[in-house]
Amino acid sequence: EIDPIKVMKQEVGKAAAALVKSGTIVGLGTGSTTAYAIEYLGNRLKSGELTDIQGIPTSFQAEVLAKKYGIPLTTLDAVDHIDIAIDGADEVDPQKNLIKGGGAAHTREKVVDALADQFIVVVDGNKLVDRLGSTFLLPVEVIPMAITPVMRAIEKLGGKPELRMGVKKAGPVITDQGNMVIDVKFDSIDNPAELEKTLNNIPGVLENGLFVGVADKVLIGEVKDGQPVVR
Ligand code: A5P
Repeated sequence: EIDPIKVMKQEVGKAAAALVKSGTIVGLGTGSTTAYAIEYLGNRLKSGELTDIQGIPTSFQAEVLAKKYGIPLTTLDAVDHIDIAIDGADEVDPQKNLIKGGGAAHTREKVVDALADQFIVVVDGNKLVDRLGSTFLLPVEVIPMAITPVMRAIEKLGGKPELRMGVKKAGPVITDQGNMVIDVKFDSIDNPAELEKTLNNIPGVLENGLFVGVADKVLIGEVKDGQPVVR
């Protein structure tokens, strides 16, 4: 049976991979949609249509996939720029502002995506919202010893914080950097730019999942008349 969401993710991943040019440095995002982009980048390298790219992974997951699909990797210490980054999102608003961090990778993602000359977001149409925070809780990465005071500070801001727990692990989710994640429900995120700064100003917060003014282009996968289309 065909899963329409999977097909949308594949098509949008393929469309993003097609934008990458030979000889460039590519930020490799995290999540199931970007995973298809990494796979198609590997296919383009294997066929010889694309040559001489170097990837910068945004997570352990991206690093493992890049190795699996034969994409050479480098680090931010070895390059002076990133040409293009491809990454997913959990919510996208009409201004191309994002909520990310559903995979607990938003801290490294923000470093890489914000550095890229061109940041391409890959999503299926279900991720589009009028207002950020309407369907997805806002992820905040926090250093472990500060969890309790950070949760109190977030409550004072009007948010309802919960510590993200592991699915096949007892206890909290631990990020690639060894920290924890708090998912926060805000009744309404009216000013994402301001909230992004306010949250990052709480001592002990490493980074939150609001990406304001970072995305350059959003590729959206949709199903129209039973056919997958990317717009
Ligand atoms: C990872 O922390 C997130 O920012 C992902 O980019 C996001 O969850 C998108 O994942 P999917 O493509 O699997 O929905």
